[in-house]
Amino acid sequence: MTRNQMLWWQRGVIYQVYPRSFKDSNGDGIGDLQGILAQLDYLSWLGVDAIWISPFYPSPMADFGYDVSNYTNVDPIFGDLATFDELLQQAHRRNLKVIIDFVINHTSDQHPWFLASRSSRNAPMRNWYVWADAKPDGSPPNNWISLFGGSAWEWDPATEQYYLHSFDKKQPDLNWRNPQVKAAMFDVVRFWLERGVDGFRIDAAHIIMKDPQLRDNPPNTSGARIMHKSMGEYDSQLHLYDKGHPDTHAIYRKFRQLLDSYSREQPRIAIGEMHILNLEEWISYYGANLDEMQMPFNFGLLLADWRATAIRQSVDVYEATLLPGAWPNYVLGNHDEPRIASRIGSSQARIAMMLLLTLRGTPTLYYGDEIGMHDADIPPERVQDPLAKGIPDIGRDPVRTPMQWDSSQNAGFCPPTVEPWLLIPGDYQQLNVAVERDDPHSMLSLTRTLIEMRRTTAVLNAGSYHPVENVPNDCFVYLRELADQRRLIALNFSSDEQVLSLPEMGSGRIVISTYLDREEQVDLAAFRLRANEGCIMELPSSEGV
Ligand code: GLC
Repeated sequence: MTRNQMLWWQRGVIYQVYPRSFKDSNGDGIGDLQGILAQLDYLSWLGVDAIWISPFYPSPMADFGYDVSNYTNVDPIFGDLATFDELLQQAHRRNLKVIIDFVINHTSDQHPWFLASRSSRNAPMRNWYVWADAKPDGSPPNNWISLFGGSAWEWDPATEQYYLHSFDKKQPDLNWRNPQVKAAMFDVVRFWLERGVDGFRIDAAHIIMKDPQLRDNPPNTSGARIMHKSMGEYDSQLHLYDKGHPDTHAIYRKFRQLLDSYSREQPRIAIGEMHILNLEEWISYYGANLDEMQMPFNFGLLLADWRATAIRQSVDVYEATLLPGAWPNYVLGNHDEPRIASRIGSSQARIAMMLLLTLRGTPTLYYGDEIGMHDADIPPERVQDPLAKGIPDIGRDPVRTPMQWDSSQNAGFCPPTVEPWLLIPGDYQQLNVAVERDDPHSMLSLTRTLIEMRRTTAVLNAGSYHPVENVPNDCFVYLRELADQRRLIALNFSSDEQVLSLPEMGSGRIVISTYLDREEQVDLAAFRLRANEGCIMELPSSEGV
């Protein structure tokens, strides 16, 4: 495939904006759509191609917007529909695509659909959610556990049944087996497609269809890994019946058809969030005929230990599993995971950025990672995340702190006199856009240069991927090739110097180092990578070797 044949989402870099934390335009300490609008020029300057905005819909904010009470409006905290339209228009004017979050599995318990559903057992909308009788002893219908801890069932005293919630009890699961639910949710998708959005990031995508018989999950007797991180009580079961029922695929095939019916002028995409460790199962969400999601998010880099061999293995297994024609993608962070610079350290975060932006497939960047933001220490009295209240170890507040724009009080996120909704980490005076923009060696300069290089170097975007053998254990080295273009990427995962000996490759020209301090011809028979250094090298075309 040449770069010209690629679609925008294959060529592009996606940037995730967590709207509460990006930029506060009205001085209430919470980010908003107007704030995103105000920073579109920054995003264009950075060079990304698309933004994915986490939920901004009306919500009681029990899970900060992932509990939606109206799918077709904007929460007043974030603005209004007119501002969204303006944002979309202004983004498009700058050639930036806009992807929005689609919270498909559950609504808020304050959504009118749920209020109607819980109003009585005979309510016409009763069957829009998953209700079940108690066992004879009054206990929940089965042993399913919520991802936020505790039983996945909540008793409704008024109507004397339990409702299912795979996440917080304020997030009741929709009943996707009810055709009316599907019709109503597809109308939501149409609403946003008509407004002009370019795609959807589908939240908790594989959870929508459960076992119709509501069978108990078996215990996880072997202690097998369930998710990419420990999830407390949730890990005590094998989740055979509470998610991922094969019927899910029919929904995503229809979803894709709907997107395709709006894709004549501009392809619209679906990216799915699903944490499935079994790659065969995970890959099935591309669709047997590539007729479901264009990109199920690949969380492989979040899962693997930060060692060259483990990361290489994750990439290789992933590449080998992809069906022909399935487009790859990579993710290093998001609003649910520790920030990369905290997880692996600031020096290695530069390696991670080079990796993300030089692998084959679409990279998704989490806001703030381009400046090397760290996780914040949130004192217990300032904890906001409902997950942290259930399972403290995996609270997500530390990764959702305000974007660091400059060195002023509150980092330029909100006025100095206002308290931001989450505190700002102490190192913001060094790590911020204003300071790093002017520093030719900063993380921001590195990220921006890599994005630009990816955009202007077809092989980095469209080339094939080949891991290189016989390199030191602490190095991950790979080749990207397209027609007669070749780039070698060499990443040192250690804090010691490493020497590569690849005489068969002759010599190459370093076009960028993660230190942003060398561009030179090197002999690959004995090539020194400094501690924590990564380099991209231009190699002579294969015909010339
Ligand atoms: C997804 C979101 C997460 C949210 C959960 C429930 O995993 O990424 O932030 O809490 O779904 O909607």
